[in-house]
Amino acid sequence: MDFSRLPETAFVHPRGENRAAIEALLSQVATRILDYLTGAADQTPLPELQTLSTIALPEKSGDVATLMATLDTVLSTAMNPAHPGYVGHMDPLPTTASIVGDWVVAALNNNMLSVEMSPLFSRLEPLLLREIAQLFGLGDRAGGLLVSGGSLANLQALAVARNVKLGTLKTGLLTQAQPPVFFMSEAAHSSIKKAAMLLGLGTDGAIAVATNDQSQLDLPALHQAIHQAQQQGQKPFALVATAGTTVTGNIDPLVELAAIAREHDLWFHVDAAYGGALMFTEAYRDRLQGIEQADSVTFNPQKWLYVSKTCASVLFREMDQLQHHFQVAAHYMNTEDDWVKLGEISVPGTRHADVLKLWLSLQHLGQQGYRELIAANYALTTHFTAAVKARPELQLASEPEMNLVCFRGCPEWLPADQWDDWNRRLQAHLLQEARAFLSLPRYRGHNWLKVVLLNPYTTLAEIERIFAAIDQFLAIT
Ligand SMILES: Cc1ncc(COP(=O)(O)O)c(C=O)c1O
Repeated sequence: MDFSRLPETAFVHPRGENRAAIEALLSQVATRILDYLTGAADQTPLPELQTLSTIALPEKSGDVATLMATLDTVLSTAMNPAHPGYVGHMDPLPTTASIVGDWVVAALNNNMLSVEMSPLFSRLEPLLLREIAQLFGLGDRAGGLLVSGGSLANLQALAVARNVKLGTLKTGLLTQAQPPVFFMSEAAHSSIKKAAMLLGLGTDGAIAVATNDQSQLDLPALHQAIHQAQQQGQKPFALVATAGTTVTGNIDPLVELAAIAREHDLWFHVDAAYGGALMFTEAYRDRLQGIEQADSVTFNPQKWLYVSKTCASVLFREMDQLQHHFQVAAHYMNTEDDWVKLGEISVPGTRHADVLKLWLSLQHLGQQGYRELIAANYALTTHFTAAVKARPELQLASEPEMNLVCFRGCPEWLPADQWDDWNRRLQAHLLQEARAFLSLPRYRGHNWLKVVLLNPYTTLAEIERIFAAIDQFLAIT
């Protein structure tokens, strides 16, 4: 190979011939990342991207300076979840161990498809996921997989549910006499409907059940929806509960829903993408009581465990069901007798080793560290909620059950049809005046402001700054 047309640092030479140049490059990158992250509070939480003109595919190789210039642009325009005023989404600043883990995983470039392509990671993942499944109370035969995001976790859980309950692994839906449907709350994440569409049920196959004024799935409405589906000749096969809804962070009544699922022979899936982190605490895990009865659970460490994206899991009460109702053999891979090829039992074949950053984060922070973080988040939430309640012009969407507060201004001196626009303008005002990014979800037909108090560096001072800016806005509008 003639390397003369490639930059010296294109690859790391396996006998170390370009070690000095690589070291210089990586140290420039490390300095930039550190400059960025240690100065994150001095930047805006949400920089504006001025323009992004079309880009040309490079013909010739570029030098390190070009790469660094590109990195500078990326750093200065990226969403900044490390900012203490970044409170808009379920997107945390990453654990340091995540940054280390992803760096090492990229350097190793192993593949989670099979044991021979990732000898350690392919063994580590099932071991760690089994521990997590047991922490969720799913029992001795439980286990799980890491997938890239909660949407894929929900899809895989519902694919297994469909195959187990309807026997569709080989024949699909064509032989079904009755159209299959499942139930979820109207506040469930959009990925549940997407899963219904991908599983051949159509989005109408996911029946959205009304919620009560706490944004929780309403039990009488569920009974009615089940009855109606049966009357219409549909075949209900699953019930999806949410533990930590995306907009308000509320928890469906899991114990009651588990009982209803049992009564009607429905697969019980709990989307705990966000709220699953409470299982790592002593003080708050009771809020998820009933989750231990689930057949499958979605849980995203990339959210409240602060692991960098992507890191999501799907847990199964009976891990064997993946082999019997989901596995499709990939014969181009050698088989290890005692370790399953993960690529055969997950939707993707090739997969990133997300397990390392999860494992390193757990080792570094410990369950005790996570308990402290979550307790601190709850303390801020209590304070934030009290400040909303102290202002008669503000209204809560529901009583917070996690570290999410969803509220909106209803200034009585303006006509109600102007409130949506008022809240949109308040969002912009808070970014400009308090350097705080709150998101603006559309919920129950209106604009709301959503706060997720995740960042451990967010203090009472930030919250006071936010409310001072809200009071100022109330006074001038
Ligand atoms: C409750 C819930 N489930 C599923 C998801 C989807 O996760 P992802 O965006 O990782 O696919 C989200 C995302 O916010 C969520 O809040």
